[in-house]
Amino acid sequence: MRGANRFGGLLAAAVMVVVASAASAQTIGFSQVGSESDWRTAFSADMKAEAQKRGINLKFSDAQQKEENQLKAVRSFIAQGVDAIVIAPVVVTGWDQVLKEAQTAKIPVFIADRAVQSDPSLFVARIAADFNLEGRLAGAWLAQASKGQCNVVELQGTVGSAPAIERKKGFESVIALFPDIKIVKSQSGDFTTTGGKEVMESFIKSTDGLKGICAVWAHNDNMILGAIQAMKEAGLHPGKDVLLVSVDGVPDIFKAMLAGEDNASVELKSDIGQYIYDVVQGYLKGKHDYPKWVVIPSDLHTPADAAAVLARKGG
Ligand code: AHR
Repeated sequence: MRGANRFGGLLAAAVMVVVASAASAQTIGFSQVGSESDWRTAFSADMKAEAQKRGINLKFSDAQQKEENQLKAVRSFIAQGVDAIVIAPVVVTGWDQVLKEAQTAKIPVFIADRAVQSDPSLFVARIAADFNLEGRLAGAWLAQASKGQCNVVELQGTVGSAPAIERKKGFESVIALFPDIKIVKSQSGDFTTTGGKEVMESFIKSTDGLKGICAVWAHNDNMILGAIQAMKEAGLHPGKDVLLVSVDGVPDIFKAMLAGEDNASVELKSDIGQYIYDVVQGYLKGKHDYPKWVVIPSDLHTPADAAAVLARKGG
């Protein structure tokens, strides 16, 4: 009987611990851009897995690349009284009002990946890579690979998004040092494989099969993957007839490098949930001295290390 009582007591204590920890689990609302690219899909999966590991109650909202969906999601997080909000913003503008609403509700906001053009006092910190550096790394690679002589066609990311703005600026700042490297055509492929393919098809047409074009520079890998399809369908040899450089470092780009169809990609890390939640949870525990920009490093890869990077990524 005594043993049974003791067991009953232990069970009650265990239930109380579970109930207490469930009650104290942090609820974080995350407004994600969408699922436009392989990088984005990997980032979403990492945010979900990392939240589960940490016992975070994550409210995940996919905006399907529409800012209006993000504004609705953030307002719904505010109404639900979440402990913190993470936003990966589609575009840089249009955030002030909703950020003020979160501030009035005393809910801290963290910006992840893409940037906002808002008063920095409206959010705690941005945890993200340096998109301008990514553009500069791509530009520097092209300058050496082309020996300073190249007509480039550019596939831009989503118009008004921080990576499209900054990668373009970074790339242009480096090629400006080389008078014989020029961007001769530039259009948005919206960061998607389909968009990259369609724009590339029109570039192939308007240049009579990429005559005089030495390189394709794309603001992400998925657009290059689409461009590779377009080039192959047109009987061209991507990575050989024309140099290719882009950003993200997704598994399929390393596979393309190993097949001899791609030349370089700057890796944007997708397993960044750990960095984001470290800052959010640190802040909720009382650490309030984070820098406004917590920088995540990026680096450039080529066929020389493609197999090793692919293996690291489990591909
Ligand atoms: O904001 C990061 C960019 O967004 C990635 O480079 C691209 O793949 C995604 O759509």
